[in-house]
Amino acid sequence: MASKELLEEIRNRLPLVSFVGERIPLKKSGRNFKGLCPFHQEKSPSFMVNEDKQIFHCFGCSAGGDIFTFVMKLDGLSFPEALDELAAKAGVKLPVFEKGKTPDADDETIRRKKWALRLNEIVMQFFIKNLSDETAGGVANDYLKERGITPETAKQHFLGYADKSWDALVNEFTSAQAPLKLALELGLIKEREKGGGYYDFYRGRLMFPILNLKNEIVGFGGRTLDPEDGAKYLNSSDSFLYHKSATVYGLNWAKETIRTEDEVILVEGYMDLLALRQAGIGNVVAPLGTALTLDHLRLLMRYTRNFFIAFDGDAAGLQAAFRSLPFFLELGLVPRAIMLPTGHDPDSFIQQEGVPAWNALKIKAKTLFECFVDDILISAGRGTAATIQSWDKIRPVLQKVTNPLEHGLYLKQVAQKLGVEEGWLGNKNRSSDIGPQGGRHRTSKVDVRSSLNTERNDPYPEEERLLIAAMILSPKVIPVIEQAGDIFTNPHLKNLAKQLFLSFAEEGSIQLTNALNLLDNTLAGWVREMALTEEENGLWEKAALDCLAKIESKTLGVKLQSLNHEIQLAEMQGNEAALLKLMSEKTKLTESKLRKRNAS
Ligand code: UTP
Ligand code: MN
Repeated sequence: MASKELLEEIRNRLPLVSFVGERIPLKKSGRNFKGLCPFHQEKSPSFMVNEDKQIFHCFGCSAGGDIFTFVMKLDGLSFPEALDELAAKAGVKLPVFEKGKTPDADDETIRRKKWALRLNEIVMQFFIKNLSDETAGGVANDYLKERGITPETAKQHFLGYADKSWDALVNEFTSAQAPLKLALELGLIKEREKGGGYYDFYRGRLMFPILNLKNEIVGFGGRTLDPEDGAKYLNSSDSFLYHKSATVYGLNWAKETIRTEDEVILVEGYMDLLALRQAGIGNVVAPLGTALTLDHLRLLMRYTRNFFIAFDGDAAGLQAAFRSLPFFLELGLVPRAIMLPTGHDPDSFIQQEGVPAWNALKIKAKTLFECFVDDILISAGRGTAATIQSWDKIRPVLQKVTNPLEHGLYLKQVAQKLGVEEGWLGNKNRSSDIGPQGGRHRTSKVDVRSSLNTERNDPYPEEERLLIAAMILSPKVIPVIEQAGDIFTNPHLKNLAKQLFLSFAEEGSIQLTNALNLLDNTLAGWVREMALTEEENGLWEKAALDCLAKIESKTLGVKLQSLNHEIQLAEMQGNEAALLKLMSEKTKLTESKLRKRNAS
């Protein structure tokens, strides 16, 4: 992990306004700079950047953070990738070793990765050379032609050909003095069973290199050109370079278009993707030879929340799309399904029917959820038993929807389609909730209290949340709050407050971006909004004192109530001694309450 100081050093060396300004036009607006948000579509600017505070925030979509968050979101990088890039830009040298690893081991990892990427590069060039060779690549070129893929498309996507030889690649590696063990690990070659030595894994196949977001070649897919010969597609197996459950094919080419069009189209495979791109549809990606995963979707969500899914127009394609529905729902996404006529896949459809027909289908696309429900209803038939059976299939999927509002909307839609009262579904849904999994949905006392806190959609008591913001935005108030004693009831905020007390004691200040990193998304978004809003002087000090007073008077009130209760009890029991003691306590308490009121 990079240290706090290192991150601060990088932030200080790269002024945020000019960094962001290089990518999106910004205009000065009060103490901030303002522009059109790159993370959602808008016509009037609500995206704010503040130089001193080193943060950005969009008042429209709540995206925000520091320079690291900005490049991660905009370029779709992971944190380590963003760190590498920004450190290089800032001229800050990163420590080579990570915690728990010796410097040597780390050098070794880097060397291995470099060699692996070089191996894949050699392989790709070798396949490309084969394809460009008229005699060797003849079959593959004929095939591309037959499939309607132009030589330009093939070239732009680095397609190649693995010829039928058993050792062409092995020989290529040997003459390049490449480490064969590594080639084996990457699945490029296989070990012979008898007699030792290696043989080529891909033979007689059209080859598709798989590139990551940095345009590094991390794997390959190969389509057989001989229908008799094994699997239609062979894909690289997972390695330290390639994780199929987290990689989508084509994102390196599509990411810009996905962002500008603010939507993505998911197709099943290589050929679909190439055919669409060739037709000028650029915002398309494909999960390869694997079901869609949450990781795939989270990766794509960095670019857009608008998903279209265009799988094969047959039962298998439909079922594959439905299997991904729970993941979409879990993430609060509402994907739409482009329904192709039976027998078509996106590739055949776009080539035979053309872009206007494609667009017509896309406009008509219903939500995947609706398609799912319709499909169930059609196969279930009519009658009470069928309705119950259908609901049993829909219910578990619906349970993935955690947002109560969304859940309600879906429920309404399902009730309508099933032709039943919504309340009936609601009850059925709840009764099935009482299992171990559903237990957490039941409201506890704490939940009731926080749900009364309706102003914001977070689980924190209003005053405590304000105090945290005050500490971050005006650290002067920290000692006052610390002195007030144990005032935080929410464990998360209590813990946060402790961390802030500690940082302040150690450094005499609070670094805004570091503090924001401690907060959850909702809380951080809210504090960023406050930070970028023009504040009058002393606002936070005043707010903090108000909050403290409120919390104290609340606590006093609670104490007084319980004292009164005890007094009543003592009176009923005729316990004079206890009564006397309690009465004197009550006098003290009311006096201190009065003092407080007069003081403020
Ligand atoms: P399809 O069988 O629909 O292939 O599988 P396709 O892309 O339409 O292939 P063409 O048009 O016949 O050439 C869809 C995707 O599933 C993966 C591939 O990524 C493929 O593009 N797949 C399929 C495999 O990984 N292995 C297989 O054996 C088959
Ligand atoms: Mn196909």
